[in-house]
Amino acid sequence: MTFRFQLHHTDTATGARRGTFTTPHGPVETPGFMPVGTQGTVKGLTIDHVASTGAHMILGNTYHLGLRPGHETVRALGGLHAMSGWEGPILTDSGGFQVFSLKGINKISEHSVVFRSHIDGALIDLTPEHSIEIQESLGSDVAMVLDHVVALPAERDDVQQAMERSIRWAKRCLEYASRDDQAKFAIVQGGLDVDLRVQCARDLASMNFEGYAVGGLSVGETPDEMYRITAATTPELPADKPRYLMGVGRPIDLLESIVRGIDLFDCVMPTRNGRNGFAFTDSGPIKIRNAKHKTDTSPLDASCDCLACTRHSRGYLRHLFIAGEMLGPTLLSLHNLTYYQKVMRGAREAIRAGTLVEYIATKKNQWGIT
Ligand code: GUN
Ligand code: ZN
Repeated sequence: MTFRFQLHHTDTATGARRGTFTTPHGPVETPGFMPVGTQGTVKGLTIDHVASTGAHMILGNTYHLGLRPGHETVRALGGLHAMSGWEGPILTDSGGFQVFSLKGINKISEHSVVFRSHIDGALIDLTPEHSIEIQESLGSDVAMVLDHVVALPAERDDVQQAMERSIRWAKRCLEYASRDDQAKFAIVQGGLDVDLRVQCARDLASMNFEGYAVGGLSVGETPDEMYRITAATTPELPADKPRYLMGVGRPIDLLESIVRGIDLFDCVMPTRNGRNGFAFTDSGPIKIRNAKHKTDTSPLDASCDCLACTRHSRGYLRHLFIAGEMLGPTLLSLHNLTYYQKVMRGAREAIRAGTLVEYIATKKNQWGIT
């Protein structure tokens, strides 16, 4: 079998799982975090940098790569792996969420979502089938189904319509797909209504996807609402398939979601915040531009083994940001991704050791979260 999800441990105290998801480009240890490489590049980092953080699988975007350079061009360049040089697993998002978040939606019908390209303003007609066609050209290991995401808060009726359409679109994606070396993951929608989420999860679980995502979260609701929806959704999903919480989140959100049965994550936060001079550390967040770091010879995070922390001082990193040097965003992105991977590795080890609850308590304490 091309795809396999082996569960090594399930934490009896919480529901957290420790597993390995095997893809044609190698294994992904779960719980795992995927750096975001929207345009076929994790912004500011080389593929060796990304690999050095300990990341197993990275994410690419149908929306962006389909518009530019275009899926035929990616295919002509040998697919996304060959084009980018990343030899490990790649998951691609379907485009539904990007259309929604870039506010380019022109018209959504049963047939498709019509949106305006943010590059040249052209109208693009994205059907579930076309999203899969693009993802097959990209050659990612995991393709996400096209879904209909609604902005929250929204009327229950609108949330329900979008959820039901997402199920029909998921089915169309599954029926259209022709590559058996590409896993298809469904996406649970349903806003903040537990009964809609449960219904959506059950309907999708009855179809034969290789994995299941929880979508439509981290769109303005509180963390507690997000945890509540995640906790209500995961028990409805097949226990023997990986579960992916899309677009989440802060380090604490990853841990709180792992205890609610999530296996995979992606988020722009470590790279975006890194580019903005914001570092995640074991002693809480650091704003490297702050004047207090001006003559500080200590490392960003003494317990981190990334290049930024082993070779450079806070004072130097601050200087790079103040001077507008491109190395600053590179080094902080590298550090933040390394940090996220360390948190995930810690969670995996804690699940194995049966100490996840203690691990999370320690992390919260370090991060100053009560
Ligand atoms: N990324 C973050 N949230 C979502 C979602 O709900 N759907 C998709 N396709 N991508 C996402
Ligand atoms: Zn570091």
